[in-house]
Amino acid sequence: MLIKKASDIPASEITPESIYRARRDFMRGAVALGASVMAGNVLAAPSQVSDQAKDRGPDWLRQQIAGASPRVITTDEKLTPYDNVTHYNNFYEFGYRKEEPAERSGDFNPYPWKVEIAGEVDKPGMYDLEDLLKGITLEERIYRLRCVEAWSMVIPWVGFQLATLLKRFNPTSRAKYVAFTTLEDPKQMPEQSSYFSSIDWPYVEGLRMDEAMHPLTLLAVGLYGKALPNQSGAPFRLVVPWKYGFKSIKSIVKIELTEKEPPTTWSQIAPQEYGFYANVNPKVDHPRWSQASERRLPSSLFSPNIIPTQMFNGYADQVASLYSGMDLRTYF
Ligand code: MTE
Repeated sequence: MLIKKASDIPASEITPESIYRARRDFMRGAVALGASVMAGNVLAAPSQVSDQAKDRGPDWLRQQIAGASPRVITTDEKLTPYDNVTHYNNFYEFGYRKEEPAERSGDFNPYPWKVEIAGEVDKPGMYDLEDLLKGITLEERIYRLRCVEAWSMVIPWVGFQLATLLKRFNPTSRAKYVAFTTLEDPKQMPEQSSYFSSIDWPYVEGLRMDEAMHPLTLLAVGLYGKALPNQSGAPFRLVVPWKYGFKSIKSIVKIELTEKEPPTTWSQIAPQEYGFYANVNPKVDHPRWSQASERRLPSSLFSPNIIPTQMFNGYADQVASLYSGMDLRTYF
């Protein structure tokens, strides 16, 4: 079984989600005082409540998110609090420190949003995100996110399978890879005009076709039941839970199906450190640090919360067969 449908989920696994639901309902009731004490450390600090309670995104998206189908849970671990998920980010277009994407993306306006579908498909063209999402039922999925920097989170995304979108465009038999591109707009993304930036913008990523079509591969438009905040990759981003976080490209403006393996930002910058595949693998260390364990957020000096890293980030039973016969040290 690839992913668990709501009906298959044992009661023990529903706990984190129900806490989150309870929390959301509680926040809706606008009675935040004491909330974090009542519901334990899954709850956010009161200072962030107003941010989370804010309804983001246009009406059509809010309605679609409100109609998301029941959750699909792929982990029973505790959710990472909203504050960590949205204030400890890598989104280098807005800065290199973890707090900067939240601090500096406030003026970014991701709606309306156009996406180019290009390459080996029947109907290439420019599409409104709103039109691309028409008729798609969103679902809520709880995934682990493991960054190559050895920290990790557990995030309730709202999204849909990338395969659903790709199938609509009838990929040709020559389509072997999918290339993704982030928006390039230095007026809105300050680091793209920075003299000191070491990234050759725009940020690009790619997947093999079978990885892209895998049921776990998600296009997310929301998290914690709301449209994505800008720092998390609004209006939509990739989420590939068995790969290091850098594969999960944000604020996508182009999806191109290609015959050849596309270039990817980090493998261009440091090919000896970051490969095209970037599968989470505790046995293959980064040249400068171990990948055997990770710091699960929230973590602090006195409570570092270090846990062992799992092969394919814990999704091995679902994805290992994609790589059978491949030497994962060579194809890292
Ligand atoms: N996408 C773009 N366009 N720019 C980025 O800098 N950072 C990547 C990935 N997607 C990045 C990106 C990295 S390194 C990680 S770990 C994840 O986004 C982080 O996602 P999060 O900030 O939502 O946790």
